[in-house]
Amino acid sequence: MQKNKWLKEIRLYIQPFFKDDPTGHDYQHMKRVAHWSRFIAEAEGADPFTAEAAGWLHDIGDKKLFNDPKQALLEMYRFLESLEMETETIKEIRLAVKDVSFTKGTVPTTLEGKIVQDADRLDAIGAVGMARTFAFGGAKGQLIYGEEATSIQHFYDKLLHLASGMHTNYARKEAEKRHQFMLNYLEQFYREWNIDNNEGTDMSNEQ
Ligand code: ADP
Ligand code: NI
Repeated sequence: MQKNKWLKEIRLYIQPFFKDDPTGHDYQHMKRVAHWSRFIAEAEGADPFTAEAAGWLHDIGDKKLFNDPKQALLEMYRFLESLEMETETIKEIRLAVKDVSFTKGTVPTTLEGKIVQDADRLDAIGAVGMARTFAFGGAKGQLIYGEEATSIQHFYDKLLHLASGMHTNYARKEAEKRHQFMLNYLEQFYREWNIDNNEGTDMSNEQ
């Protein structure tokens, strides 16, 4: 089946870019986004192949991960052309990859694009999303919690805003659960972190 062959080629293509990534943008992130993109596409009556392909490819050309994002995207287009897909299919995949990023603040124009954005955002929240955030912070030399630019701060800058912006029904429902889980986590986090408010030795004079 041609489409399965293309998906295999796509998996092989992205592997070297992401396999050693320590910032939460590793191959397993691409795999989860591809998986949920396909799943949501099937539920929403969108094109599962385009959604899955774009899910695998969505972080190619991300400014955080690539020194030359434009070049990375150009090479990706060349790669897709080398697979000899219909021009229309390549266009659909390119469109779905284009506007996924939260940082850019754009709403994708196609249903498949919206689906990949939902799948990417689902992977940014909940237990896995939180793990990815602490991994990113660690890899960038950022503190867990404190005065400024910490991983906990990123919850307020981004993670806690994602659930309300989901486009599809499945993602909206799943995001609500993950959102509540993050709120519970934060409550527990502060309880454990703030030792000065607890019983026991008073360490408030120490650094
Ligand atoms: P997108 O790739 O959608 O533009 P981000 O640039 O915010 O979104 O990065 C994706 C993921 O990387 C986040 O969900 C988070 O896990 C991690 N991340 C990005 N910036 C930070 C940060 N300043 N602190 C901690 N984690 C971060
Ligand atoms: Ni991503």
